[in-house]
Amino acid sequence: MTPVPPDPHPSGAQPPQIPSQFIPRHVAVVMDGNGRWANERGLPRNEGHKAGEKSLVDVVAGAIEMGIPYVSAYAFSTENWKRSFDEVSFLMRFTTEVLTRQLETLQAWGVRVLWAGRKPKLWKSVIRQLEYCEEQTKNNTVCTLVMCVNYGGRAEIADATARIAEDVAAGKIKPSSVSEKTVAKYLYKPEVPDVDLFLRSSGELRTSNFLLWQSAYAELVFLDVLWPDVDRRTLWHAVLEYAQRDRRYGGAIDKVTS
Ligand code: FPP
Repeated sequence: MTPVPPDPHPSGAQPPQIPSQFIPRHVAVVMDGNGRWANERGLPRNEGHKAGEKSLVDVVAGAIEMGIPYVSAYAFSTENWKRSFDEVSFLMRFTTEVLTRQLETLQAWGVRVLWAGRKPKLWKSVIRQLEYCEEQTKNNTVCTLVMCVNYGGRAEIADATARIAEDVAAGKIKPSSVSEKTVAKYLYKPEVPDVDLFLRSSGELRTSNFLLWQSAYAELVFLDVLWPDVDRRTLWHAVLEYAQRDRRYGGAIDKVTS
């Protein structure tokens, strides 16, 4: 099926023209601020999550328009089980519903959906829908959306370590050959590249256990806007900021100014 481009943003805004080397390959998004957005309007937190669905879809549209190949969205963390039963069960149902509602659009745009996260504790209905979306979209190549559900950065590294230990015990790899590359191969989705741009909405200045390994050299951009108020223009603004950054990866060069 030939992919259809997303409709332009209703404001008519177009993505900024940026040389391709300044376009991030992988943008990680912490969709924070739904609860505050709702409470500020006298509504329960779950209404904020509902209002955040369109933001996620619009950000994916903006990524496609800009040629960003990977977007990871933090939809439910391994720590979010601490929230009220009401909110947790809402989020389990909501995640399944969002994936069901949006699959046709994502499919039309040529988006491949992947799931990163842990199976234990996660509702079977959510796992089924995530795996269904992975299967249905596996041949899409325009953009990859990694849905991080029951995901934690420490959990991912611990799970990778356990699988490496199993392979060492089985004699498949030697302890002395375990390198950073080995660890990267045992992550949930090893084919997804490191994060270039790490975005968090809502003004909170922390990463909250999201993509810890992959974000080692990510540029962090914190947005003073609540997730339901985010759209593709917010992503483009963050990419413009990213494009100004000087990425050194630990290297340095003399820039004598006087
Ligand atoms: C991390 O902050 C934020 C998240 C795990 C995002 C949660 C997002 C949703 C529940 C909304 C999902 C929306 C859609 C459209 C699928 P935290 O609040 O877990 O961490 P903190 O306690 O450090 O702030």
